[in-house]
Amino acid sequence: MSATRVVVNLPDQRSYDVRIGPRVLDGLGRKVRELLPSCSHVAVIGDANVAPLYGARAKEALNQEGLSVTEITVPAGEDSKSLAVLAEIWQALASKKLDRSCCIVSLGGGVASDLAGFAAAAYLRGVACIHVPTSLLAMVDASVGGKTGVNLPAGKNLVGAFKQPAYVCADTATLATLPEREWTCGWAEVAKTAVLDSDEFFFWLDGASAQLRAHDDDAVREAITRCVVFKADVVARDEEETQDVRACLNLGHTLGHALEACTGYGTCSHGEAVAEGMRFAARLSAAVAGASLEFVQAQDELLDKLGLEPLPFSVPPRELLDCMHGDKKAHDGQILFVLPTDIGSWEVRPVADDVVLEHLDAWARSKEQA
Ligand code: GLY
Repeated sequence: MSATRVVVNLPDQRSYDVRIGPRVLDGLGRKVRELLPSCSHVAVIGDANVAPLYGARAKEALNQEGLSVTEITVPAGEDSKSLAVLAEIWQALASKKLDRSCCIVSLGGGVASDLAGFAAAAYLRGVACIHVPTSLLAMVDASVGGKTGVNLPAGKNLVGAFKQPAYVCADTATLATLPEREWTCGWAEVAKTAVLDSDEFFFWLDGASAQLRAHDDDAVREAITRCVVFKADVVARDEEETQDVRACLNLGHTLGHALEACTGYGTCSHGEAVAEGMRFAARLSAAVAGASLEFVQAQDELLDKLGLEPLPFSVPPRELLDCMHGDKKAHDGQILFVLPTDIGSWEVRPVADDVVLEHLDAWARSKEQA
């Protein structure tokens, strides 16, 4: 079966393709030649888990087209999203004397695309980048849309840039080596997209959940494609999150990011935290924005089916509230939530601290009773 192509439509000749399918990685060199005719040198930035698995294939695909390759490997995990690692990447690029015609390729999950994209945005004031996502989460979310950045001690993704890639090469065969917990992490972003998109996607996902959890190739590819189509549309309408459209993609992330920060990155995965955040946002929405209890229950059931059961622990509500205030989604001292009002509809609005705290207290109590 040939690869699926989704186009992210952007002005100023910056539109790009996302190719989804097995072995699309083999055509990476041809794509670089086609898109960047003056490029002769590619830096492949991969993490220490993924580079040994797919670095050689990426290099071969690039070498076949006569492109020189510099491989830069960063430690796996969220800790690599730091200014220190970014500086090491820039030093490595400069020491190889890579000029403005070079291209930076990320190989890995969201950490790789965030780092490599930011490196490309600022190196020599901007060089081309291409993403080769190898995790479900990166295929459905992180690699598409141009958000890049690193973390600061004060919070996640606090420094970064919008840097749209020239191409996204989502080789679904690379998912064969994805650890189970990482699959589950990706399902949270897929569920988030389905809730935002439509009844059609939501109930397709609900019905396909068993096939998806068994990693059925066709179902997985369809889920990725549906998410990329949705995200491409959102990004085309609101590239830099200034129009109250793209902000919907933060569903589940207000509590999710706070949970990750308060428990120490890695205690719960990003996906587990986002799923918990989606459950919380739905309940908050039922209280303040009119979501029905049927919706809350349907979303709970979908998350359960995807292996995203409620977290078994809580975090002191005050700590979570403080973290939410440090998040970049806070605005004028108020915490912003994406509140799903039903499948396919949502509001982005500030919620007063006392209301958030009341619901966090109820959330924490529910954990004690469970
Ligand atoms: N991951 C959220 C966004 O790309 O806007």
